[in-house]
Amino acid sequence: MEPIELPAIAPATEGRELYAVVGNPVAHSKSPFIHARFAGQTGEPVEYRHLLAPIGGFADTVRAFIAARGRGLNVTVPFKLEAHGLADRLSARAEAAGAVNTLRVDSDGLYGDNTDGVGLVRDIESNLGVRLAGARILLLGAGGAARGVILPILARSPAELTIVNRTAAKADALVDRFRTAANDAGCTLGGGGPQAAAPRAYDIVVNATAGSLDAALPECDARVFGAGTLAYDMMYGTQPTVFMRHAESLGARAADGLGMLVEQAAESFFVWRAVRPASAPVLAELRATLAAARA
Ligand code: ATR
Repeated sequence: MEPIELPAIAPATEGRELYAVVGNPVAHSKSPFIHARFAGQTGEPVEYRHLLAPIGGFADTVRAFIAARGRGLNVTVPFKLEAHGLADRLSARAEAAGAVNTLRVDSDGLYGDNTDGVGLVRDIESNLGVRLAGARILLLGAGGAARGVILPILARSPAELTIVNRTAAKADALVDRFRTAANDAGCTLGGGGPQAAAPRAYDIVVNATAGSLDAALPECDARVFGAGTLAYDMMYGTQPTVFMRHAESLGARAADGLGMLVEQAAESFFVWRAVRPASAPVLAELRATLAAARA
């Protein structure tokens, strides 16, 4: 077998500390832009880069990054599960998610966290102004993206969380897994196949399926969308997704996942630096960039 070639990692500029987003592919990631803005705003000495890890070479790439005195990583596709396995310690939310999107290099080892779910919750509550407490929520999908947001959603005490998925058994497994956490939060948890959604409008419908990647609409009763519904797609692009357009055609308000991207980044920055950056101006700037790309 050919040895896997690892990326060369130059140390940070004098006086700065090294961070990166590691993935494959990774060149498209907006994280370096976002964290450069956060560093500028807060004055934190953060130098943040893209880091392309070869498939099969994730752990070695992380070791090389640590050897280069790297301090923290965001982890993206396809390495979030491997990062979970590699961490020496995990936050409760990373453990529940089964995936890690944030690694911090501590003196006693590698700390793994997952900020995706909190990113979603903050975007819905702070940026979009919709309360999760007491809400009826429908979650579409039962893969890694869905699993990662369940605990942070439950932490906001919604009245009801229904998880539906094309493959019912995967939704059932998530319902079993989070039953105790839902009980503790006073939330009614249920789910199954697409027919398990109640045939009436939910307060919030979150699309956590990978459907938007190939412009596919997840199967879902049209009656779950109403005038008071926030239809949230975790994906984003220069154009509204098919899910967003579908929900809007049924009278719902639609939002994409750009705010979640910025909010998860802000939470990662906090995990590393214990300083909370302002997300709103960075989200506005990214939104303007997307609008310009569309024009
Ligand atoms: P991720 O980590 O992005 O969640 P994943 O773990 O592969 O990726 O999960 C993908 C999710 O999108 C699953 O819930 C999948 O449904 P299945 O479990 O039935 O495969 C869902 N999904 C993908 N394409 C879809 C489509 N066209 N319609 C409905 N659901 C879809």
